[in-house]
Amino acid sequence: MSSTPIDYDPFAEAVREDPHPYYRRLRADAPAYYLEGYDAWALSQFQDIWNASSDTEHYTNTGGAASAQLLTKDQPVDPMINTIDPPEHTLLRTAIRRNFLPRNVAHLEGEARKLCSRLLEEAKERGGVDIVREFGSRLSVTIACLAIGLPVEDGPLLTKLVQGFFSHDPDTGGMTAEGMQYLGELNTYCADKIAERRRNPNDSGDPLDTIATMHYEGAPYASAAAATHISMLVVGGSETFPKVLASTMVRMAEYRDQRNEIIADPSLIPDAFDEALRFDMPTQYLGRTVKKDHTLHGQTIRAGQTIIFLYPSANRDENEFANPDTFDIHRKPPRLLSFGAGVHQCLGRHIARMEGKVSLETLLPALGDYEIDFDNAVRLRTEFVQGYGSLPIHFTPL
Ligand code: HEM
Repeated sequence: MSSTPIDYDPFAEAVREDPHPYYRRLRADAPAYYLEGYDAWALSQFQDIWNASSDTEHYTNTGGAASAQLLTKDQPVDPMINTIDPPEHTLLRTAIRRNFLPRNVAHLEGEARKLCSRLLEEAKERGGVDIVREFGSRLSVTIACLAIGLPVEDGPLLTKLVQGFFSHDPDTGGMTAEGMQYLGELNTYCADKIAERRRNPNDSGDPLDTIATMHYEGAPYASAAAATHISMLVVGGSETFPKVLASTMVRMAEYRDQRNEIIADPSLIPDAFDEALRFDMPTQYLGRTVKKDHTLHGQTIRAGQTIIFLYPSANRDENEFANPDTFDIHRKPPRLLSFGAGVHQCLGRHIARMEGKVSLETLLPALGDYEIDFDNAVRLRTEFVQGYGSLPIHFTPL
């Protein structure tokens, strides 16, 4: 216990530089921490976030889930699967869920493998690859298009729009007006695709078809709402994975013994990917709006306030993980929060894990002792997402 008061603000420069010392203090001394400027509470312990993620009695998603919706409130709360509560959420999630189940993901795995081999060949010709821009993003956006029912040729455009949306102000780390314009363009693109599919429904059962044709409370979704539902799937499906792959490659370079173990026994890859995600979760938090007063760690949490879940803190909680700051691909934790929990648990988690497995199976045996070009890497230091926006590596093809 330290006597200095904790001064945690997700936008502060020092927090964006390295949040973990703050998270450690919060877990120990203020597990329910009041964020003065935002009328919000930050939860940092694993068990609290686990419980709150499933608690639809006290919390609602209708105030949004992202930083710019909950804290700065400069992103509108459009209808998206993660901004609606049951029963509408249950109906929508049930309708599109089958596209994201392991048996469907197995169909996507073949496409992922072909693409990864092609990207590796291109990388070998150049003797290098940007893990985020030239590998992870291309893989995740292509698979997202296939999973949602969008044309794969639109992948580069969608990557540009999603990355533009996430471009943040270097001074505050927060959302920019330009970023919001990109989100508007993404919504317009999705509205066009919904309109096309409404003119030509194809009974494919893909999420684009399901959302274009489904009814809620006796009426079809308004086209703007249908479009923003699709936008969420595009963002969720393409944005996070490349950053996770980049940090995994950084850890694989750092912990060579563990990397060599994986190359000798690729069945370790799924656990290694989960461990890398536990160790370096890029999304700093998502959250909810409080709908009913209650008490947590002696604090009164009031209806109308915001609550944020500090996932990277939960992932390093010493009450959940032994030696949490040690990178260990053999730890096999019984539960993780990297994909959230409860009714809003990540719908794309089987896809993300498949992409991680196929990428690492392709890259690790082929790259040998690759070198990371940190001088030309771009590190994101925003209040919401941290990790690499670009991670060039060099290697001598084996
Ligand atoms: C490693 C990559 C990924 C990570 C770390 C990740 C993480 C998360 C987390 C933490 C949530 C929970 C949100 C909450 O409880 O409020 C979430 C929700 C969601 N994710 Fe992912 N995600 C990843 C990849 C994907 C992919 C590939 C897709 C789609 C293809 C996807 C689609 C979604 C959707 C649709 C939701 C909202 C589910 C709902 O509200 O019912 N995610 N994700």
